[in-house]
Amino acid sequence: MKRRTFIKNSLAVLALAGAGTGGLSLLDKSGFVTTAEAKGFTSILPIPPLLENLDTSGRAASFAMDVKQGTVEFFPDKPTATLGYNGNFLGPTIRVRNGQRFQINVNNSLPEVTTLHWHGLHVPAQWDGGPRQPVPAGTTWSPDFIINQQAATLWYHPHAMGLTGEQVYHGLAGLFLIEDEVSDSLDIPKTYGVDDIPLVIQDRRFFGNGQFAYAQNMHDVMNGVIGNYLLVNGVMQPTLTVPTGQVRLRLLNGSNSSIYRIAFDDQRIFQVIASDGGFLERPAAMNSIVLSAGERAEIIVDFSKESSYAVISLLVDQMGGSKFEAMRIAVNGKAEVTTIPKTLRILDIIPEAEATKVRGFIMETMSRGRGRMGMGMMGRRLTINGKKMNINRIDEQVDLGSTEIWEITNRSAMMMNMPHSMHLHDVQFQVLSRNGRIPPLHERGRKDTVLIMPGETVRIISRFHDYTGVYMYHCHLLEHEDDGMMGQFEVIT
Ligand code: C2O
Ligand code: CU
Ligand code: CU
Repeated sequence: MKRRTFIKNSLAVLALAGAGTGGLSLLDKSGFVTTAEAKGFTSILPIPPLLENLDTSGRAASFAMDVKQGTVEFFPDKPTATLGYNGNFLGPTIRVRNGQRFQINVNNSLPEVTTLHWHGLHVPAQWDGGPRQPVPAGTTWSPDFIINQQAATLWYHPHAMGLTGEQVYHGLAGLFLIEDEVSDSLDIPKTYGVDDIPLVIQDRRFFGNGQFAYAQNMHDVMNGVIGNYLLVNGVMQPTLTVPTGQVRLRLLNGSNSSIYRIAFDDQRIFQVIASDGGFLERPAAMNSIVLSAGERAEIIVDFSKESSYAVISLLVDQMGGSKFEAMRIAVNGKAEVTTIPKTLRILDIIPEAEATKVRGFIMETMSRGRGRMGMGMMGRRLTINGKKMNINRIDEQVDLGSTEIWEITNRSAMMMNMPHSMHLHDVQFQVLSRNGRIPPLHERGRKDTVLIMPGETVRIISRFHDYTGVYMYHCHLLEHEDDGMMGQFEVIT
């Protein structure tokens, strides 16, 4: 099987790189290529092709998706083995409307199992594409459901048990945009690829032979596989040309486990207009935004004062890691939108009093005690409520139609100050508080993924409507998820 061989080779190279210096030298960057070889803003930012149907006449949006192996030359003459949807790396941007019937044939051309999960979509459990809906090698999976939520920037990625991190790392991810009457009517930039730009931000590390260095030793599981190269839409150090005026960037932290602080080199203020699940009530002015793995934000940046050919850099600070000049934005030409609206949408606030149940979730790095391994990495386990994922166990049962508050605490054991990124399938929730305080403006809209720093308790509220069945909740640091930091909730009648 391809995966096995790949991991074997990876570990062999890692072992070679760290030969003679003991097991932990696997962490050493010495085996990895360094940033010096990157190309230097000479490539144009690729815009993922649209797979779209915005038809309002009631016809179904029907698509085909081929999950396949490919190669990409990130470095000259060193083709990297990749995975992609309908291409070599990443996938098309799916764009549909609320209320539309959505059908897709997902054909798995990989030599191993995969799944296709609609991250952030409110869909019947059977079409969720989580670990319970495996698509074996050589087979086709054909979800068919109605789009049932407001305009938002969502995404899709594989979710097979224990394989999510590795398959995403090799390139399986894409954006999923929903439009509705509100997004239609708002006077905001909306020409895809022109003033409405998707930015899939990811980091990677490579072996000297150009292959992705995805290896799951204990350090990588605990800290996540953190890269020393930054990709935007699958390319290192690209340049994007935008018109003079307002430009909308749809940001996805598509990394496996990194937390990003995203800002511009001149610290300019931008307007956050949407969180994971759709528009905020009104734009939130910020000069940097933190996104944990899996989170999205839509921002509008004002380039109306730039003279032609001004160049602005987008910076990504991988918190606890490197700082990158991720891409350059060159300003040239005239924009369609020059001002932005003061209000975006009426928020459908979920009142706390509506909740009929409160559940507690402890995300924890537990110590196995002082065994032969002492307090080292091997003595740690990542758990939620003391448990690891078991697909044959339902962890929580939720009544259909009910509203619940989930209190999620990141309890970190000594010296393991690990942030976590909690994600729920099925629902878009509302954040009630962070450590007892009302969340910042940009976290007051709908979300499906939320960063929980060590020692923090985040309270969220959610309605469990429309669909019954089994869904996942998990840490979206993919190495944590694959290691079992995941549970299942079943919505029942
Ligand atoms: Cu983005 Cu359960 O995943
Ligand atoms: Cu999800
Ligand atoms: Cu985690």
